[in-house]
Formats: sequence, C-alpha cells, structure tokens
Amino acid sequence: MAVIDRELVARTAPAPVVDRFGRRFRYVRVSVTDLCNMSCGYCNPVQGCAATHRHKLSWDDLDFLVDVAVSDLGAEAVRITGGEPLVRPGLVDWVAGLRRLPGLRNVALTTNGVLLSRLGPALHRAGLDRVNVSLDSFDPERFARITRGGSLARCLEGIETARALFQPVKVNTVALKDGIVDELERFVQFSDEKGVEVRFIELMPVFDQKDYFHRHFISVDDLREELERLGFALEAEGDGPAEGNRTGYGPATTWRVRGTRARIGFISQMSHTKCRSCNKLRLTSDGALKPCLLMPEEVDLTGAIHGRDRHAVASAMRRQFLLRAEAYDPAVALGLPVGRPMQATGG
Ligand code: 5AD
Repeated sequence: MAVIDRELVARTAPAPVVDRFGRRFRYVRVSVTDLCNMSCGYCNPVQGCAATHRHKLSWDDLDFLVDVAVSDLGAEAVRITGGEPLVRPGLVDWVAGLRRLPGLRNVALTTNGVLLSRLGPALHRAGLDRVNVSLDSFDPERFARITRGGSLARCLEGIETARALFQPVKVNTVALKDGIVDELERFVQFSDEKGVEVRFIELMPVFDQKDYFHRHFISVDDLREELERLGFALEAEGDGPAEGNRTGYGPATTWRVRGTRARIGFISQMSHTKCRSCNKLRLTSDGALKPCLLMPEEVDLTGAIHGRDRHAVASAMRRQFLLRAEAYDPAVALGLPVGRPMQATGG
C-alpha cells in the first residue's frame, strides 16, 4: 500500500528539475515537422525550405516525449513549432490529446499564420491556449522577398483569426536591417490598433547563414533608439522591473508605449543574452534534444522514444537541462559549424 501511495505522489507531483544556477525546467519546445509553406531567408537561406526530409517522430512519439517532460520532470508548458506546424496533418488531435496531462498548464503554437484561418477554430476547440504569429513586414513586396514568395494578406488574415480566438496573441518580427527601421512606426500602430504585442527578434546566425547574418543583423538597442527618435516613449508596465516585463515563458522583455495601447517586446539573444532565466529544452523535428539554439550540444532521443524507454528519455532530458552552461557566447555561436536549419530546430 505504502509503495502505491509513493508512486502516486511521485506521478502527481514530480520533483522540479533545477540546475546549479537556480534555473528550473518548465518548458519544452517541440518542432513537429521541418516542412514549411514559406521559405524565409533567415531560416534556411541557401537551400530554401523545399529541401526537407520527413519527420522521424510520430504523433504518439511526440505525445510520449511531452508526457515524460510534464509528468516525470515537472515541465508545465509546451510550445509547438516547425517548420510550419500547421502543415502536418493530425496536429489538432495531438493538441487535444495533450490536454489530458494534468500538469500541463499551457499549450502554445508558433505559426506563420497562413493556415490559421482554416485550422484556428479546431485548434481552439482542442484546447490550444496561445498563438504567436510571425510577421516580418507590412510591405507586400518586402514580405514576399523575406519569405521568398509568402503572402502578406494570408498572414494578416491569420492574425485576425488568432485575435478572434486566442488571448494573448503575439506577433514575432525578425529584425532585418534592410527596411525594419522604416517600418517601426507601422508596427507600433498595429500593436496599438489590434491589441497584440509585437516582439522584435534579433537575427541569429544559425545554419548556413553567416553571410545572411552579417548583411541583415540589427540590434534591439538600435531599434529602441530609433523608436525613441520617432517619439515613442517605452515604459515598464505597472510596477514592473526597469528592464521591462516578461510575459509568458519565453525570453522577451516587454514595454508599453506611453499614451497608446501598444506593447513592444524585444528578444535580444545576440546583444544581451537571456540565459539567466532560460527554462527550456527543445526537441528538433529529427528527434534531437537541444538545450540551446546557439550551442552545439544535442542528443539523439529517437531510439529511446521509439522504445518507449521512459527512464532513458527522462534522464537524457534531466542531464541536458542540468549540464547547460551558465550562458552562451554569441561570438562563439558565430563561429560554430553548421548545425541544422531553423526549420528543423524550431524557432
Ligand atoms: N533568427 C531569429 N529568429 C528566427 N526565427 C527563425 N529563424 C530565425 C533566425 N535565424 C524566428 C521566426 C519565427 C520564430 C519561430 O523564430 O521568425 O517567428
């Protein structure tokens, strides 16, 4: 009897995984496919997103992984990424299945929005909590150039669907030097009008895009300066910390723009690392567990997942989380050998 009770307690309240810097494992990002219906230059600049392979993990495999993270290691949030997660058939049922996990507080999705008007309502019914939509430009031509053929209209339509169904909705904008400064005012206006938080993400030099990086990088400090030059005063919300507020589980710091409804976030992983508060692990679409986008460490979990080896999966995750360095060095990341494209890693 005592043994059963102990097992029950262990399963209902897993011991939190906390590393030597006090960071607790809360959050797993799962890339469910490397397929995408766009082909953004910063994601896979040389090959484009046509050069894809099949995902190695079935929905049941992914379900098992999330169950271990939540039930055995105390993670409380999942973010679904890709590729473009909405292109993989079966996503809605998978989300509905995840909701049976009592410890899972938050299921979020990152999408380019193209298929959201079609799939948003079913995802909402399945229990999806939050949506982030990528939007890099309001200029149809610039949008098409960045995404190599994507439709701005479809993306904006996706944002409207998201706004009607989910709260909060956040917009992800990769800051690209050619043109972002000219569009800052429009992004603030959009945030104000639509009540969505816009987060500017610094470009990262992942995969075969060092060249793209050097041509397009602009720091969030430069963006902030431009915003202030345009007359937008950024202020902390309520009695929030002077360095901006964090909303959700991610690394953004968020500011209110004085006199408006606009909320602007910055994800500054190149110029000011947020490793101090990093609480996540990533699973790539080819079954590798990665503690960090900008560090080379990873471990292949496909065998352990396919074998349903709970202990092996849990200990690999625990080990990967606990062994993370205190911080990465962005300069070192620039010199790293080619890994896999963002479309397989999950942005
Ligand atoms: N640098 C910064 N952000 C990136 N994303 C994809 N690739 C990169 C990169 N190289 C972002 C996308 C999307 C999110 C999933 O990751 O814009 O919003």
